[in-house]
Amino acid sequence: MTARVARYYMPFLIAFALGACQSTMMAPQKSLYDRLGGTPVITAVVDDFVGNVAADNRINGFFARTDIPRLKKLLVEQICQATGGPCTYTGRSMQAAHKGMNITDAQFNALVEDLKKSLDKFKVPDKEQGELLSALGSLKPQIVGQ
Ligand code: HEM
Repeated sequence: MTARVARYYMPFLIAFALGACQSTMMAPQKSLYDRLGGTPVITAVVDDFVGNVAADNRINGFFARTDIPRLKKLLVEQICQATGGPCTYTGRSMQAAHKGMNITDAQFNALVEDLKKSLDKFKVPDKEQGELLSALGSLKPQIVGQ
């Protein structure tokens, strides 16, 4: 009797176990935006990063006539949108924004270094740093040499 009951229920047990296992394995990942800590952390990182850029003699000359509060706002929007957050970037295309600047590879890398310093300061984990830097790195062809 017990064996018959067990045989009857076994397929259901297996299906349940597989389902539970699958749903754990397939749990949707939180967006990079959420894992970074959302708008508060992105805003803090951008503030600090723009401060690093302003102090960086390799590239700060580019920003001499830039409206810095506007730039910060646009960077927050851009990073928020690019990481899956609830924002819409309202600035110009990367090509249009950097046109005529003739930015070099070295200058691009200097800016990324300044950003990485801020990501380290705010203790953004390596995985999230890598994801953010590769998302922004993919914009390089639209920024360098324009
Ligand atoms: C991944 C790298 C970069 C990103 C994501 C980025 C993003 C942006 C954004 C969102 C804006 C504002 C666009 C607008 O005005 O509508 C901007 C403007 C600007 N960017 Fe970049 N940028 C990058 C690299 C660089 C580099 C390497 C330089 C120079 C070394 C640079 C110099 C500037 C300057 C000077 C402006 C202001 C232009 C103005 O005042 O009209 N950017 N950038």
